[in-house]
Amino acid sequence: MQKITSPAAFIGLNDTGIISFGSGQPDLPPPEAIFKHLETPRLFKYGLIKGDEELRSLLAKEYPGAEAEDFVITNGASEALDLVFRAIYQLHGKVGVLVCKPYYYSYPPIIELAGLKPVYTNLIEGKIDLKDFEKKLKSVKVVLINSPSNPTGRVEEMETLKAIEKLCAKHGVYIISDEVYKDLIYERENYLLKGAQVITINSFSKTYSMCGLRVGYLWSRDKKIVDTVVDIKVHTSMNTNVLGQEMARNAMHVPHSFIEKQRQIWQERRDRLYGGLIALGFDLWKPEGAFYVLPKIKNSNRVVSELFHKHQVIVYDGEWFGAPGRIRLSYALDVKLIDEGLKRIKKYIQGKESWLK
Ligand SMILES: Cc1ncc(COP(=O)(O)O)c(C=O)c1O
Repeated sequence: MQKITSPAAFIGLNDTGIISFGSGQPDLPPPEAIFKHLETPRLFKYGLIKGDEELRSLLAKEYPGAEAEDFVITNGASEALDLVFRAIYQLHGKVGVLVCKPYYYSYPPIIELAGLKPVYTNLIEGKIDLKDFEKKLKSVKVVLINSPSNPTGRVEEMETLKAIEKLCAKHGVYIISDEVYKDLIYERENYLLKGAQVITINSFSKTYSMCGLRVGYLWSRDKKIVDTVVDIKVHTSMNTNVLGQEMARNAMHVPHSFIEKQRQIWQERRDRLYGGLIALGFDLWKPEGAFYVLPKIKNSNRVVSELFHKHQVIVYDGEWFGAPGRIRLSYALDVKLIDEGLKRIKKYIQGKESWLK
């Protein structure tokens, strides 16, 4: 049986009969309005490196005190992360970046490719351990926060986020806040990290189911960061996909009820998968946001391979997220498919109950 060692084996796989708890891609349709009134002739021309002016103005209205020029529209949150780390390397050299572990699997490579050094703080029960965080803060220039989190599904307490704002301001440390799941919180309102050294990153991928169009952004009051990002982008990807930006502009006019309706669907799925896994005897944190669970299971690499090859079920190995002894399941699929996937997982774990502890 072929060993599966990275998500690359699964991304884009679409065969019938497979139940995929793998992908972090919403299966729900995007708002219809994004396809309307596309200004076709404009779509074939280069656009502004910083991004469409109207889109940036619309975004600025969503963030208190923000101006359109504080934003750079990027090819997904992925490019925003890549550019901001490279900008920090240009401004400060090989500095440390504090990363919470478990982490989104692309964080360590993006940081290292930019020439920076990841420093890890282990989460406790999926949440930030402020004591360890403060201790490690002294050795870094940047902290990376992702709340709600991929892969834990946890949302940091507001008190923790406020304490981080204060600590980082005191020590002169940048906060990069990856908020791609900010509209998918089931327990409370989002708390937006604020301050002169905060760089907020977001995307249209998850909220509006627009993953393939590759539209994201960063915003910061730090002009040096924004200007350095633009200086790099002009020589790398240049403008962000213009068609995607037009659709993102349309998405900004969609009533908030669209997001609320989607959130309710996600919450129903969360309850189904979380409840189903608890009933099967899994040990896992209750997700408060995003669309992931991270249950414990021994021999996680073998589980990933066997579930796929013998039961046509895709799950991701926790090891890819810095969480050995766990698997990550996304609930970006219909409840009927969640039920079928749970049935197959039940069959697979029969006789392996000791692996769940
Ligand atoms: C935490 C996190 N950040 C960033 C991204 C990348 O998102 P985008 O599609 O906007 O590049 C993802 C995608 O799964 C993610 O989970």
